[in-house]
Amino acid sequence: MADIQTATQAPTVTRREDYREPDWLVSEIDLDFELDPASTRVKATLRVARNGEHDRPLRLDGDGLAALSVSVDGAAADWSMDGSDLVIPLAGAAHSIETEVAIAPERNTQLQGLYASGGMLCTQCEAEGFRRITFFPDRPDVLTRYKVRMTADKARFPVLLANGDPVGQGDLGDGRHWAEWHDPFPKPSYLFALVAGDLVANRGTFTTMGGREVQLGIWVRAPDLAKTDHALAALKLSMAWDEKVYGREYDLDVFNIVAVDDFNFGAMENKGLNVFNSRYILADPDTATDFDYDAIAAVVAHEYFHNWSGNRVTCRDWFQLSLKEGFTVFRDQSFSGDQGSKAVKRIEDVRALRASQFPEDAGPLAHPVRPDAYIEISNFYTATIYNKGAEVIRMMATILGPEKFRAATDLYFDRFDGTAATCEDFVRCMEEAGGVDLTQFRRWYSQAGTPRVTANLKHDAGAQRATLTLKQKVPPTPGQSDKAPMVLPLKLRLFGEAGAVTDEQLVLLSEPVAELQFEGVAARPVLSINRGFSSPIIVETDRTAADLAFLSAHDDDPFARYEAMQQLMLDTLVKAVNGGAADHGPVIEAVRNTLTDAALDRSFIAEAVLLPSDSFIGDQMAVVDPEAIFTAREALRHALGKSLEAEWRAAYAAVRANRFEYSPAGKGARRIKNVALGYLAASGAADAADMAFAQFEDADNMTDRQGALGTLVNGNSEKRSAAIQGFYQRYADNALVLDKWFQTQALSTREDTAESVEALAGHRDFTLANPNRARSLVGAFSVNQRAFHHPSGRGYRFLADQLIALDKLNPQTAAKLVPPLGRWKRFDAERAAKMRAELERIVATPGLSKDMFEQATKSLD
Ligand code: TRP
Ligand code: ZN
Repeated sequence: MADIQTATQAPTVTRREDYREPDWLVSEIDLDFELDPASTRVKATLRVARNGEHDRPLRLDGDGLAALSVSVDGAAADWSMDGSDLVIPLAGAAHSIETEVAIAPERNTQLQGLYASGGMLCTQCEAEGFRRITFFPDRPDVLTRYKVRMTADKARFPVLLANGDPVGQGDLGDGRHWAEWHDPFPKPSYLFALVAGDLVANRGTFTTMGGREVQLGIWVRAPDLAKTDHALAALKLSMAWDEKVYGREYDLDVFNIVAVDDFNFGAMENKGLNVFNSRYILADPDTATDFDYDAIAAVVAHEYFHNWSGNRVTCRDWFQLSLKEGFTVFRDQSFSGDQGSKAVKRIEDVRALRASQFPEDAGPLAHPVRPDAYIEISNFYTATIYNKGAEVIRMMATILGPEKFRAATDLYFDRFDGTAATCEDFVRCMEEAGGVDLTQFRRWYSQAGTPRVTANLKHDAGAQRATLTLKQKVPPTPGQSDKAPMVLPLKLRLFGEAGAVTDEQLVLLSEPVAELQFEGVAARPVLSINRGFSSPIIVETDRTAADLAFLSAHDDDPFARYEAMQQLMLDTLVKAVNGGAADHGPVIEAVRNTLTDAALDRSFIAEAVLLPSDSFIGDQMAVVDPEAIFTAREALRHALGKSLEAEWRAAYAAVRANRFEYSPAGKGARRIKNVALGYLAASGAADAADMAFAQFEDADNMTDRQGALGTLVNGNSEKRSAAIQGFYQRYADNALVLDKWFQTQALSTREDTAESVEALAGHRDFTLANPNRARSLVGAFSVNQRAFHHPSGRGYRFLADQLIALDKLNPQTAAKLVPPLGRWKRFDAERAAKMRAELERIVATPGLSKDMFEQATKSLD
């Protein structure tokens, strides 16, 4: 018994250095599905060819599959199972292999492979889900042409979709029908998809720059059809943008998107048939916030852009995941920036990076953008691969400049079209087309950890000279104790009383220490550095509160203005948390300036006047004290609310009567309105709860209704429970909005949140079986610093209980929720011990998945 336990608890590690070309290639596959939720038959015919000179057998990956039959070139074959792999000895150079299996989609709670969701059948194959459907060399460097035939009950599954183009369909006369789809582009198995269901489409067309008319369809259940216009519009914008900005044209006659309710991630870029979590498709003003609208456009763009960065050029192995994900995130970020305010988009992206990637890079799960080893690849769909990966691409774009960067991406797409490439291939294209040497820059792919730069500016009035000293350091991370210096592109500029005293310059800091001289600087200047967040690093400067306040009002780079304000707030809050006397004055004056600056747009103002989050403040501390942070932040919120009460009221009144319109101006108005409402509530104003409740009741859109709900949920007014109940009753039959109901309560800043979250886990609408619902309560709660780190440890216990239960259903989604427990080193000894105890309880759970095993054991280190 003990032996079995050890064996199941030491899953194999896959290493990048062990990469070998596939032994066998598969040029074509014919798949024949007899679709049925209870038992689906899958017949597969593979044309395989020996790759190179060797005598190794054909080895096909399987996961939970039992072969009903196996034949080679039409005859019964000699085969065996090695664990879950099907092994077939083959004599010749090329053969035709036929296998048949039966799978049970309705019992697939992992949501990988073929599964049932909301009455339909759909697939999710990335990264290694195809092996749950049929035996296959399930690795991204095996590129195959797919022909797919589906047969299903016509009443239950009137629509049958797969990758590529539809080539035929018909009735079988017995209540069943069939459809056949061919995908002319060879693809890796992770891009395979099919969908069967009772669906309707919002249809559109797009004519490509080459004159091809593409039939677009957004497929949903009939009642949701009215909520698909925004996604369809975003798809058309994305297709046009990729032509204009990257010269990339779509390549099939159809492009379909299907929305499904149960989905482990945001969406999936399957060739010609994207499958989406319905939260990233469905929107109307009553049910979706501005944040949702923007996220829908961003995810639609992201998946569409994968058609080139991911599908036409795919990844050689999963260690290269950021090749497609980092690049595609960079592309979707640029797209979104072009739709509205670039500056606000950059602020949002940096905030997200700091909230998720910086902590990851500073903790036990830190890994390079190109990892060296994994147990379960699903655990590596991380903020580091996606968001830091996007920053790495952005830095290369900055170093090359726009024309050379475009030449480099053209070269990359051209050279690697139809192949499985590596991060190294991409960097080499940047070097060749950019005429630059990126040898040292490559450390961004191999070294984990967020680099830290200290910047000290000295001024010599007599010599009229300013001297800037820059020092960089990359912290140790698991498995990497010594770090070499990185190449850090730093945009910087000096300012004086009367404005800029130098031009903006791009400095490539590549040494541990560097000194820069600026001549002809008469008066003491103020440093604006890492403008536009040109490097994804932490910068420490010796700037005073007055310097930061000055930049927050006068810097010409909007990101740098925002950053100066954030730093001023952060310095003030950290001092207060550390027991210093809190001087709120400079922050109040800086916020007043920004709030009343008529030249600024409202979305920017709203971002700039928000205080850093509890957890970002915690990230600055040696030992995180959640209660002290909460108290200090609330005190500053109160001071800002009270001192600027008239300004908040004016800001609120100016936009109050706006009718809903989804436009940059409309979004800005709603954003500042809700930020102002929050500050008015924090001020203690007697009428704030009534204002919030009136907004809650009268809102013509979800941004305002959820904003008001959030303000009320955080407070103690008697309107609180009326709002919670009213919201529930209004939206009880809308799953995506109920997610918001759970999430808003899980994010409450009140003292009793841990308790109410425990109660909500017993609510009749709560289920772990739906990933969105699980994340809306459990995921949101665990990033609520004050609530999760309740001194009793009940937050940790709650999370561990939920994770252990969820792991039995859906290991992929469960494992993604482990990281908050792994941050124990950042907390006091009592909390750390309690967090470790919960991780140990998880690791000791019999039958733990390898997903959870990897996350939980690494988190204990
Ligand atoms: N490739 C998808 C994306 O970036 C991510 C994804 C969707 C995924 N579903 C998944 C990754 C399941 C792992 C497992 O949009
Ligand atoms: Zn992606």
